[in-house]
Amino acid sequence: MQVQWYPGHMTKAMRSMKEDIKLVDLCIELLDARVPISSRNPDINALAQNKFRLIILNKADLADPKTTEEWVSYFKNQGITAVALDARKNQSVSKVLSTVNEVCKEKMERDKRRGLLERPVKAIVAGIPNVGKSTFINSLSGKATAKTGNKPGVTKGNQWIRLNKKIDLLDTPGVLWPKFEDEKVGLNLSFIGSINDDVIEKTELAYEFVKMAQKSGLLPVLSERYGIEAAEEDDPNDLIRSIAIKRNCIKKGNEPDIDKASSMIIEDYRNGRFGAISLERP
Ligand code: G4P
Repeated sequence: MQVQWYPGHMTKAMRSMKEDIKLVDLCIELLDARVPISSRNPDINALAQNKFRLIILNKADLADPKTTEEWVSYFKNQGITAVALDARKNQSVSKVLSTVNEVCKEKMERDKRRGLLERPVKAIVAGIPNVGKSTFINSLSGKATAKTGNKPGVTKGNQWIRLNKKIDLLDTPGVLWPKFEDEKVGLNLSFIGSINDDVIEKTELAYEFVKMAQKSGLLPVLSERYGIEAAEEDDPNDLIRSIAIKRNCIKKGNEPDIDKASSMIIEDYRNGRFGAISLERP
């Protein structure tokens, strides 16, 4: 199965991202902690060349904590600091500010040595749709001491949020497009809900999800949640049928409602009802 999706407005988003990134010192890249590779746009390395970098492994509450730790080390080995986060929690977001200081320490010290006036680090948040960019910016700016930027009537430009004396954040995130030439990446992004659900049928998606669960040792989680017997060699369609029956997803004519059961399985995963499950490991 091939997931195909190339929205036209992405070219425009990429163009503004290219312009915006010229204005900043630091690129804060948000990834989904459950699928850090699939949710990463590979162009970011070229886009953010010569910038300070910080990776946020967001939605860490939905990912396996041990695997997330391994991802933090993985990025550290590549020379990029990564922080696991639940962007909805203001308290945990504030720890990001101190990490930004650490990441940009070199710049701050250099400015000082050159006798330059200490200027706040300018930062942009970037990531694929639905990864939590707006939530993250809102949580951060809840702590903002002031909003800076253009006054009404002045030509529309970039708005900066002053987070503290040391950090200014561009208030519009850079939207990156997921790249999914690889079928697995397309599926991972569909499982977490980063690709519109009209791109791939829910029934097909649930089939692929159950198949993935069979291959990656997640069957016990499914069995336990839905109270079904499941084996690796079972046909995923049969398992979805059993789940529909167990969960009373029945339509007219007393037939199992596969559509309804499929949506339920996918929503259960997206909302962490199977527990915190990572789909990618370093
Ligand atoms: P975006 O700007 O990158 O497109 O993402 P946005 O902030 O709009 O967040 C997308 C959804 O993800 C939101 O849910 C938001 O609450 C949720 N979210 C953001 N960060 C986290 C996190 O760290 N953990 C969890 N569990 N959820 C997070 P929503 O608007 O309610 O959408 P939905 O959940 O109804 O799909």
